[in-house]
Amino acid sequence: MEKLYEGKAKILYTTEDPEILLTQFKDDATAFNALKRGTIQGKGEINCAISSALFQWLGTKGITTHFIDQPAPTQMRVRAVKIIPLEVVVRNIAAGSLCRQTGLPEGKILPFPLVEFYLKNDALGDPLLTRDRLLILELATAEQLEQLQTLAQQINQYLREFFATCQITLVDFKLEFGLDSQGKLLLADEISPDTCRLWDQQKNDPQERVLDKDRFRRDLGEVESAYQQVQQRVLAQLGIE
Ligand code: C5P
Repeated sequence: MEKLYEGKAKILYTTEDPEILLTQFKDDATAFNALKRGTIQGKGEINCAISSALFQWLGTKGITTHFIDQPAPTQMRVRAVKIIPLEVVVRNIAAGSLCRQTGLPEGKILPFPLVEFYLKNDALGDPLLTRDRLLILELATAEQLEQLQTLAQQINQYLREFFATCQITLVDFKLEFGLDSQGKLLLADEISPDTCRLWDQQKNDPQERVLDKDRFRRDLGEVESAYQQVQQRVLAQLGIE
C-alpha cells in the first residue's frame, strides 16, 4: 500500500487494485481552514462507522457512492474516483457561514433547502462560487452541475428524514463527489459529525443540542460524547450492532 494523499481527517492509500482505494480515518480535527487543530479521541472510528452506515443506506435508496466495505474499524475501502474540487453544501436551517455572510439569525428555517458550491482550495479559503464561476473554472459541465444539484437535493431529503427518526435535526452538511473511470458521478468523501451540523431534538439549549464539529470549533466541550451519541443513534436506527 502506498500513501496517495493525506488530508486533515483522512489518509488515502492505493491497493493492489487500481480501481480500489483504502481510506484511513484519523482522530485529528481541524477547523477554520486548519488554523485550529486538535484531536477528538475515537473520532476516526466513529466517523468511519457513521459514514459507512450512511453510504450503505443511501445505496439502498439508489444513490451511487464510492463505498465498498469497511475492512477495519477506522478503514473504508472505496472506488477510486477523480474528486471534483467542489464542496457541495446543503442547508435546511441557517447556521455558520450563512449567518456570518448574510446576517440571517442562527436557527432560522430556510424556505427551501439551499444548495451551494464552494471551491475546494485551502489557499483561497474555499470561496463560495456562483454557477457561472463554476462553469468558467471548468469544475463541471452544465449537465454535471444539474446532476449535482439534483443529487444534493435528493440526498438531503433522505438524510433529513433519516436523522429525524434518530431525533436529530440535519441543519446543514457538505458533500463531495467524484468521477469514476467511466465518468460516472459518485458520492465520495464522508458523511459524519465532522461534515454535518446535527442538533439534538431532545435538547432545547442552543449549546447543549450541538452534536457535531461545532462543539470543537466553538470549544463547547464534550466533543467525544456528542460524536458517540450520533453513532449510537444512527447505528441503532439502522439495526447495526
Ligand atoms: O462553515 P459553513 O457554515 O459554510 O459549513 C456548512 C456545512 O458544511 C457544515 O455542516 C460544515 O461542517 C460543512 N463543511 C465541511 N467542510 C468544509 C466546510 C464546511 O464539512 N470545508
